[in-house]
Order: sequence, then C-alpha cells, then structure tokens
Amino acid sequence: MQTILVTGGAGFIGSAFVRYMVEKYPHYRIIVLDKLTYAGNMDNLLPVSDEPNYKFYRGDIADHGAVRGVIETEKIDSIVNFAAESHVDRSILSPDAFIQTDVMGVYVLLEEARRAGVTRFHQVSTDEVYGSIPVGFFKEGDPLEPNSPYAASKAGGEMMVRAYHVTYGMNTTVTRGSNTFGEYQYPEKVLPLFITEAIDDRPLPVYGDGMQVRDWLYVDDHASAIDLVLHQGKPGEIYNVGGENEQHNIEVTRMMLRFLEKPESLIRYVKDRPGHDRRYALTCEKIRALGWHPSGDFPALLEKTIRWYQKNEWWWRKIKTGEYLEYYKKQYAERLTEGN
Ligand code: NAD
Ligand code: TYD
Repeated sequence: MQTILVTGGAGFIGSAFVRYMVEKYPHYRIIVLDKLTYAGNMDNLLPVSDEPNYKFYRGDIADHGAVRGVIETEKIDSIVNFAAESHVDRSILSPDAFIQTDVMGVYVLLEEARRAGVTRFHQVSTDEVYGSIPVGFFKEGDPLEPNSPYAASKAGGEMMVRAYHVTYGMNTTVTRGSNTFGEYQYPEKVLPLFITEAIDDRPLPVYGDGMQVRDWLYVDDHASAIDLVLHQGKPGEIYNVGGENEQHNIEVTRMMLRFLEKPESLIRYVKDRPGHDRRYALTCEKIRALGWHPSGDFPALLEKTIRWYQKNEWWWRKIKTGEYLEYYKKQYAERLTEGN
C-alpha cells in the first residue's frame, strides 16, 4: 500500500489520522480530499503542510468528478473515509446535508473506487448506529437502531459499504468509534464547547439531567485503531473502537471545571436534546484481538486536552465567530433563558 486517500482529513479525527500517518509512514503518500465545510480547517493540517508525502485537494465526496479526478491523478490505492456531517444537534436542526454527505457521499466514493479499481476502502463509522443501551455492551453483530438523523445517515452509509463488499467483492472494513476527544476538535461538541466557554466564564448548557453516559476515546487512540484495521482488518468486517471509559456527562463536566479551576456555578441544566441516547457502550474484544487497546488514564488525557485549548486560543477564537455564533444562538439562546 502506497497512496492513501483520506477524505474529511481537515476535520478533527481525520486530521489527527493524517498527522499520525504522515509521520509514521514516510514512504506512503497521504492525499487529503476535503470540502472544507464549517468543520473543515486547514489549521488542523499545518503541522504536516510542508511534508513531502502529504497533499491536499479541496472537493466534495458526493461529486463524482472531484472524486474521480483525485483517484486518477494520484493513483490512489486505498481510501479511508472520515468525511461526514458529524454533529447530532445540527442533524436535528437540518438533516439534509447529513443524508447528502453521509449516505450519498459514501455511495459516490464507493462507486468511483470501484470504477477505478481501488479495492481497499475503510469507512469511519460511529457507535451511534447501534442506538442506546441501558446495560451491557454492544458487539459488532448487534442490530442497528439509530435514533438521530446523524446516526441514521451514518448507518445508511455503512450499509452501502456492506453492499459493495458483498456485491462487488470490494475489500472494505468499518470501524465504529465511540465519543472522541482531544486537540483540534470543533467547539460544537460537548468537551471543546464546555472547555472554551468555561475559559470565558460563560454558562455550560448540560442537557436534561446530565446523567447520560458516553464512552470517551482519545483521538490518537482512534487514529491508531483505524491504522491497524486498515492494515490488518479482515475484508467485510466491522470493528468496535471504544475508549472503555464510561462517564456521566455531569461528571466529565465537573472534572473539566476542576482542571480549569472554574466554579460549578457555570453549570446550567437546560432542555434536553430530542431523542437523546441515554448510554453508549461497546465491547472491543474484536479489535483487541488484533493488538489494539485504548491508552487509558482519562483524567490525564482530559487535562492534556484542556491545556491544549488554554494554550491555543489562536485556533478556537477565530472559529467562534460568524456562522458559529448563528448556530450557537439557534441551539442555545432559548435553552439558556428557559432553563430545564
Ligand atoms: P468533523 O466534523 O470534525 O470533520 C468532518 C470533515 O469532513 C471536515 O473536515 C469537513 O470539511 C469534511 N466534509 C464534510 N462534508 C464533506 C463532503 N461532502 N466532502 C468532503 N469533505 C467533507 O468530524 P470528526 O469528528 O472528525 O469525525 C470524523 C468521522 O468520524 C465522521 O465520519 C464521524 O461520523 C466519525 N466519528 C466521529 C466521532 C466523534 O466523536 N467526533 C466518533 C465516532 C465516529
Ligand atoms: P456530543 O459531543 O454532541 O456527542 P454525541 O451526541 O455524538 O454523543 O454530546 C456528548 C454528550 O453531551 C451527549 O450526551 C449530549 C451532551 N451535551 C450536552 O449536555 N450539552 C451540549 O451543549 C452538548 C453539545 C452535548
């Protein structure tokens, strides 16, 4: 394997994967295709911008011509697809873009890959396709019961990947990652939103009772899991990738406030998200059998992440302007005046 197309490589996890791969495999060529939506950010790729084995293209995965152009020009061997609309709250406000990118876009990528004879395709998916689990852990064969338009569109994309494996014999793999956190995460997701708001002594909108459970996975662990599955995953297989680190939202919020030395009085319990999944939890035996495990020590990794946001205000302050403020107002203005 020599030339890998990383779609969505200017986003949070995609850029971590690109930074990781460019350094780890100097003999590979890492080609990024990204539409640069509100979530795509060239600053995320600054650390690799001068590396000879990295190249960037701006384009939409749902655009046949754009995808074909890159595959042919760069003689792509493998595709790793991170490109997606990725935020549940935005999918509740307007699902269209989610279906367009997370379903249609995956189909276009698969079809262009098939036409060009690219036989290795990895789809980055999410534990949210399973839906919520009150007790126990989801395993890879469990039925999918996605609850948000985001989760449903990711499940749709995955089904198309499955069909290309079964029907056309494409060598596909899928990873279902859990809630990921770390440096360079767009400040709409709960952790970077709360960290950057708390730095500015602004209120933290905790949905519902704050007792929802998420399994937190550090971004570099997510990147290394995808690298492993790309190289050692079996064709047609799906792998759960969890942090094995379940936390209640309110506990994560309190821990974060302690690291920032900010008061708990910033916490506001606000109106819940419609269809809010109560708990996500995965069993990761299958990927562990390939030799991967999460690095653990959540408090230390959370602190490391918080210190990064404290040191890198240049990165997030310019994001929290323009379209971001429009979105923030739509999502939170009423909630924060009304309360729970
Ligand atoms: P992100 O929103 O930070 O980045 C998405 C990237 O995709 C952006 O760079 C954006 O510009 C690009 N993009 C969007 N639409 C595109 C299109 N039509 N064509 C080309 N590029 C497009 O997302 P993220 O948090 O880094 O998530 C990456 C992937 O991982 C997604 O597929 C997501 O579903 C999955 N995932 C995320 C998490 C998480 O906690 N963030 C957990 C599990 C799985
Ligand atoms: P989020 O980061 O949006 O990830 P996901 O919905 O994909 O799990 O949210 C993580 C958890 O935090 C989820 O239970 C919803 C909750 N949350 C809040 O309580 N307040 C917020 O402002 C946000 C964005 C999320």
